[in-house]
Amino acid sequence: MGGVMRHHWLLLGACGWVLLILMFVSKFITFKAVDDYGERVGGQSWTVPGTKMIRPVPVSSLQKTAPKPSDQVIRDITVVSQSSAVPPVTGWQSEVERRSDILSSVCKNSSLRNLTHVSISKFVLDRIFVCDKRKILFCQTPKVGNTQWKKVLIVLNGAFPTVEEIPENLVHDHEKNGLPRLSSLKPQEITHRLSTYFKFFIVRDPFERLISAFKDKFVKNPRFEPWYKHDIAPAIIRKYRKSHRDNELSASGLHFEDFVRYLGDADGRHRMDRQFGEHIIHWVTYAELCAPCEIHYNVVGHHETLEQDAPHILKAAGIDQLVSYPAIPPGITRYNRTKVERYFSGISQRDIRRLYARYMGDFSLFGYPGPDFLLN
Ligand SMILES: *[C@@H]1O[C@H](CO)[C@@H](O)[C@H](O)[C@H]1NC(C)=O
Ligand SMILES: *[C@@H]1O[C@H](CO)[C@@H](O)[C@H](O)[C@H]1NC(C)=O
Ligand SMILES: *[C@@H]1O[C@H](CO)[C@@H](O)[C@H](O)[C@H]1NC(C)=O
Repeated sequence: MGGVMRHHWLLLGACGWVLLILMFVSKFITFKAVDDYGERVGGQSWTVPGTKMIRPVPVSSLQKTAPKPSDQVIRDITVVSQSSAVPPVTGWQSEVERRSDILSSVCKNSSLRNLTHVSISKFVLDRIFVCDKRKILFCQTPKVGNTQWKKVLIVLNGAFPTVEEIPENLVHDHEKNGLPRLSSLKPQEITHRLSTYFKFFIVRDPFERLISAFKDKFVKNPRFEPWYKHDIAPAIIRKYRKSHRDNELSASGLHFEDFVRYLGDADGRHRMDRQFGEHIIHWVTYAELCAPCEIHYNVVGHHETLEQDAPHILKAAGIDQLVSYPAIPPGITRYNRTKVERYFSGISQRDIRRLYARYMGDFSLFGYPGPDFLLN
């Protein structure tokens, strides 16, 4: 009798473990399905099956068929143009130059100096990836489709023949994927590359970027990165939530309001940011990530116009014959003012002003209009 009972309990326990393991594994499965956009349009993720990924031509096969490498390229271009209206790349150069003029004039504006100028520190050099084969430097800025660009550069560097063959866990492992960080080189090698290579990065509207980071790291957390909810959120709540009781703390999670107050506290957040380590790359300014006033980037692409910027960058970098950017699902990159209004609707004018004061450098450098519509 007792033996049967024990048997039942053991069985129940085993089932429990299996369930736990399944839950754990499913976290990783969703992690793989979600790209660094972390956003879905109509329930479809950016990497929906059937959406073509970037398809670099294997370099070896290109060399063999050197007389007519155009077959592959034509096929790739067809893929790109399926994403409907892709304007001709040639006309885009003037827009890129317009942005470049804005950037250099804002860099010269002394009243914005402490928001736009940063030193080329190890933190910045850690953000920049090196493609020696094609003489390209790419500064990584989260939430704008970086995984796609990194995969292309990994293939161009030659460690893997195609994008599909890069194991998912190696995309961000820069010891093993053959896409080194600029910080891993010697000072002389760094200077040489900074002054001669093609350099680019991608930005998006600064407030929409923060909303996206908040959703991705503190609400959905699809990549199973527990430290955001378990370490960073409680630290921010303790310091910035107006009223909190202990039981409320874990139950409700981080509110966007807490996050905004932390981000806008220019002086107060220094010590916390040091504790948070590399994770702050999801919300520190683009100026702090890529030093655009110190490093003369050839192109700063905008996420909102990625359909035009991606092919332009490939062309300007001289790799458009080798790779193409995947079809971009319509609407996924568009700025959504309604969303921004909704997120900021419960937040005090004072907190929004402080936040803007902190991110004004990014708004100005990249020509994004300030958030006046939130401040009336
Ligand atoms: C410098 O930036 C400030 C703040 O955005 C602005 O008010 C001012 O007009 C700018 N100065 C110049 C010369 O562009
Ligand atoms: C930038 O400098 C101004 C004074 O010129 C100061 O009021 C502001 O707090 C500084 N901002 C940051 C982020 O250090
Ligand atoms: C914009 O955001 C709002 C609120 O999050 C959402 O309901 C709407 O569908 C979004 N619009 C587009 C075009 O994605």
